[in-house]
Amino acid sequence: MSQEEIYRTSAAFYDAQYQGDLTDYQLYRRLAAETNDPILEIAVGTGRLAVPLAEEGHEVVGLDLSQEMLNIAEGKRNRINSWRKDEGKPPLKLTLLREDMCRFELERKFDLIYLPFNSFMLASTLREQEAVLNCVRRHLTPEGRFVLSLFNPSLRSLIERGGILDFQKSFVNPDSGNRVDLMTAVWRDLANQVMTVQFIFDEQLPDGTLKRARENLRMRYLFRYEAQLMLEKNGLELVDFYGDNDGSPFTAASPMMIFITKPA
Ligand SMILES: C[S@@+](CC[C@H](N)C(=O)[O-])C[C@H]1O[C@@H](n2cnc3c(N)ncnc32)[C@H](O)[C@@H]1O
Repeated sequence: MSQEEIYRTSAAFYDAQYQGDLTDYQLYRRLAAETNDPILEIAVGTGRLAVPLAEEGHEVVGLDLSQEMLNIAEGKRNRINSWRKDEGKPPLKLTLLREDMCRFELERKFDLIYLPFNSFMLASTLREQEAVLNCVRRHLTPEGRFVLSLFNPSLRSLIERGGILDFQKSFVNPDSGNRVDLMTAVWRDLANQVMTVQFIFDEQLPDGTLKRARENLRMRYLFRYEAQLMLEKNGLELVDFYGDNDGSPFTAASPMMIFITKPA
């Protein structure tokens, strides 16, 4: 899969899987309230976080490489704007851009940049990840904050046997109304710290047959101090570090690693 094809298949199912998951929204909402607009979301996807932030009145710029994901975000923004127009309200200040997070130049700076929901790991080599941080650093104001949210790699799951198909959940395909069963299988390349996650979407068609769609995502996972050193090497100094979206302290059992940084 080339980078340009990322999320091509799974975009159609993304919101059905994650739209209701707003456990991280309160974190970004709080940080946005503490800083000045505009805000930049890197790897904005379908706008799961950016759209509600824009609805709160923030000026948000979102970039993503997947045109399929951006189309969904644009559709939401346009629908909301047409309701707002009917109610005599101004349109959302939400700009969506097709850009690669490893090499973007927006010619403006931000007080808040955030890269949520493990998306940094989709930059699949060490050098690509450094390139992302380099772009972030160049787009931050001197007082700005950059928030990086990653899962905390679980040593227990890293040593599990790969390739086992796990049922995740069922949901309704919003376009067809059909039930979709999602299964995943994970392969781990411990030497290169790369996890390949295969998503299998089985849609139950009304005639009783199954329509299967698949997509593989490669994630280069990071450990705590590796990520901190990489941030520091690229001019981003740690201000806060949380183990979860509620701001709780990091422990060995924490599900997340949330780095709040500022320009060094
Ligand atoms: C897990 S989704 C996150 C979407 C959104 N931020 C959210 O929290 O719901 C990951 C997103 O990263 C995007 N992505 C992956 N590689 C990218 C790259 N090199 N540049 C920009 N976006 C990228 C994908 O297209 C996808 O929309």
